Amino acid sequence: MVRTTSGVCRVGLLGLGTVGAAVAEILLRRRNEIAARAGVTIHLHRVAVAHPERARGITLPDGVLAADARGLLDDPDVDVVAELIGGIEPARTYVHTALARGKAVVTANKQLMSTRGEELRAAAAAGGVDLFFEASVGGGIPVIKAIQEALAGNRIHQIMGIVNGTTNFILTRMAHDGLGFGEALAEAQRLGYAEADPRDDIDGHDAAAKLAILASVAFNSRVVGSDVYREGIGQVTPRIIGYARELGFVVKLLAIARDVNGAIEARVHPALLPARHPLAAVLDELNAVLIEGDPVGPVVLEGRGAGGGPTASAVLGDLIDAARNRSTGAAGRLGYMAGARRRIREMAESVLAYCVSLEVVDRPGVFARVASAFGDEGVSIASIVQKSRGTTADVVLVTHEASEAAMVRVVARLRALDVVAAVPAILRIAA
Ligand SMILES: NC(=O)c1ccc[n+]([C@@H]2O[C@H](COP(=O)([O-])OP(=O)(O)OC[C@H]3O[C@@H](n4cnc5c(N)ncnc54)[C@H](OP(=O)(O)O)[C@@H]3O)[C@@H](O)[C@H]2O)c1
Repeated sequence: MVRTTSGVCRVGLLGLGTVGAAVAEILLRRRNEIAARAGVTIHLHRVAVAHPERARGITLPDGVLAADARGLLDDPDVDVVAELIGGIEPARTYVHTALARGKAVVTANKQLMSTRGEELRAAAAAGGVDLFFEASVGGGIPVIKAIQEALAGNRIHQIMGIVNGTTNFILTRMAHDGLGFGEALAEAQRLGYAEADPRDDIDGHDAAAKLAILASVAFNSRVVGSDVYREGIGQVTPRIIGYARELGFVVKLLAIARDVNGAIEARVHPALLPARHPLAAVLDELNAVLIEGDPVGPVVLEGRGAGGGPTASAVLGDLIDAARNRSTGAAGRLGYMAGARRRIREMAESVLAYCVSLEVVDRPGVFARVASAFGDEGVSIASIVQKSRGTTADVVLVTHEASEAAMVRVVARLRALDVVAAVPAILRIAA
């Protein structure tokens, strides 16, 4: 562990994009304020980028934007490295190099932490240096440290989050303004909430990566993005959202991780939430995470989950933490005790209530045949709504709790019925 004795902590910034530029700007503009609060001056010492010649909306002091990443990592004066490049390589190599040289690392990189988090946290612990990654989940929402520090005395049962702002924005516009998926996506792209290629968000990959990070911290076990069951919001339509509303639900893309008798259930999918649930009121591009722990009970954290400013807030908090730890000789104090690896449950093991939407032929006897598809698999129906649409009808059924495996068989039976024209959506219900 390296201790800063000079009262100055020198930061090396890797990346000066959306997040890096916001971090640099605040470090420069609020230098005195941050020093007063942190008890240490946090000095922007060096910045490395991929294209140093590129024009930028920020003016750095002379000589700061001077070196490539290797030069920054080789610089013995850099105390803390903020990795704000993104992606796996070269970010992973750079983080390892920094840690091996006794530098603390702060990263916002969910791709890296959701795939290599365990190896990096172990490397930091072995070297007695800090590795902080608050910004990798939920942008400005302080959720990682809440779990690691303020809630450290709890046994966490469940984490349920809206951790992707793009999909929350799209679902909000569909629900509140009646937009179709394509229109809502186009608006999200116009406002900068969605990438030109939005698949990472729409298909749930981004949320799955964030859930893996949250679950690994909450359950002290290795969870990677590919452990998370994943469905995107492709099957959600304004009509489904309307039927859900009639039944008292809202539709959200949820990221859920649960401790089920010591095993971990981790899933991302669109789900029906009771309209009075705290996450049901999380609108537009906002994110929120509900943590349920013993003895604390439910804790909800809500805020802006992306964007330069909110993400910089989390990075700055981590930088200040790292600087304080170095000045007090407390670096590595969070440590990393990899617990025994817990089993990751298969989705087929989940037991949930479901909402199934069907298009059926509108004639007598259809209900009985549909109901028997459920009954034959031991799945009981809690409520049914039917809307006639001329020769066809929409039928929306809500089940009592059933195993996912049984529901898969029910859906196969429904699809085989000649009276069922389509099964447009099967949405799980979250409570
Ligand atoms: N943007 C958000 O809202 C947000 C929210 C949460 C987390 N994050 C995470 O924050 C990280 C940064 O995201 P961002 O949106 O700021 O990305 P970005 O705007 O694309 O910026 C990336 C920066 O990294 C630099 N870079 C790329 N390769 C490099 C290399 N090999 N060596 C040195 N610099 C290199 C780029 O240099 P040039 O400028 O010269 O090309 C650029 O300045 C990612 O891990 C992302 O997932 C972002």
